[in-house]
Amino acid sequence: MKISDVLNCSFAAWYGTFQRVTFKSIVIPLPEDFVRYLHTDGIVLPDGSQCGLYTKSKNLAMDGDDDDEDLRDDDLMKKYENDWQVPSNTEIAKAPDFGELDETVKTAITSLGGKVFPKLNWSSPKDANWISFNRTLMCSCPSEVYLLLKSSEFIAHDLDQPFVHCDDYDSSSAADRNSMSYCLVLRQWQSIDPSCEFRCFVNKNRLIGICQRNSTKLYPHIVEEKVAILKDIVTFFEKEISSKFPDPDYVFDVVRNRKGKVILLDFNPWGRVTDSLMFTWDDLEHMAAGSQDSSCQQLPCFHCVESEDGVQCSDYGNYAFPKDIRDLTAGEDPFKLMDLMKLKIQSSGDGSSSSEDDY
Ligand SMILES: Nc1ncnc2c1ncn2[C@@H]1O[C@H](COP(=O)(O)OP(=O)(O)O)[C@@H](O)[C@H]1O
Ligand SMILES: [Mg+2]
Repeated sequence: MKISDVLNCSFAAWYGTFQRVTFKSIVIPLPEDFVRYLHTDGIVLPDGSQCGLYTKSKNLAMDGDDDDEDLRDDDLMKKYENDWQVPSNTEIAKAPDFGELDETVKTAITSLGGKVFPKLNWSSPKDANWISFNRTLMCSCPSEVYLLLKSSEFIAHDLDQPFVHCDDYDSSSAADRNSMSYCLVLRQWQSIDPSCEFRCFVNKNRLIGICQRNSTKLYPHIVEEKVAILKDIVTFFEKEISSKFPDPDYVFDVVRNRKGKVILLDFNPWGRVTDSLMFTWDDLEHMAAGSQDSSCQQLPCFHCVESEDGVQCSDYGNYAFPKDIRDLTAGEDPFKLMDLMKLKIQSSGDGSSSSEDDY
């Protein structure tokens, strides 16, 4: 995998070519100071970015008792400051102000229908959904977007070392985050049925493998409709993807709805940084090298969970508790807990949320 392969999969690189066959999205270039803010520790939200944000901060109380339920939010904040015996001369992180970006994000959210799915150049903060109101990545204001981005290790990877696994990566070269232009991608929110998502592996412009994206579940309709699913995805690949993507080797994700319509979700590099899900990378390399396995010669290999015995364990188990929360629960960083408490205070009394009603 080369740096150019990774760059070709960044959202801004492919969206222009494929916007007809994917969900409507808006790409917002991020100012340097915002990228720096994403890098800093703590979860202090910029002033003016809030909406009806609800955080799970209450659930983070260390002792788990319910005495705090009766306290008002600002009392609760003081209680935690006292409990943690914060030295009086300690300056608590100050909320930054990104007024212009906030306005751009708000306008984009409105023009996408009020609910969006956020990403950075490559990754979504899907490991951080625990921090949001309804455990999804649905956002309706800038603060929800920022909180998810700041709580995600996948986003941290996009920021810190997007090219670290590339063969031509040299840590001393210019191809690092200092020369990268980062973008916030806001995608129109869709209520996607996970049983309709598939990952497709392309080598030398040949679609060689397809599997269900959520390998942790048996979906009987996939088993029943295997042939139709395969046919719809192959047709979509040939018509909409194959001659248009600049690399011969890549991985793409699609949603195929129950009526057979296929929609592009994302591109990922061909290589071990991309989760091979129900294949192994050794299998894929073998198939790519022109395996003699007759079942895989004409049509792509199709893998799905065929029985309860075939399910794989959950994808993001390792990521469920980002570093901020590990620090919190280990009692190692009282300031992070206070940031979260502040969030709760900023958002209290304004606990509106949007509901999922698109599907
Ligand atoms: N526009 C959207 N609205 C709602 N959910 C989405 C949207 N786009 C993607 N998702 C969900 O998020 C998951 C991850 O999306 P993806 O764009 O592939 O991010 P990543 O590259 O971080 O895996 C998808 O499997 C899908 O279930
Ligand atoms: Mg992806």
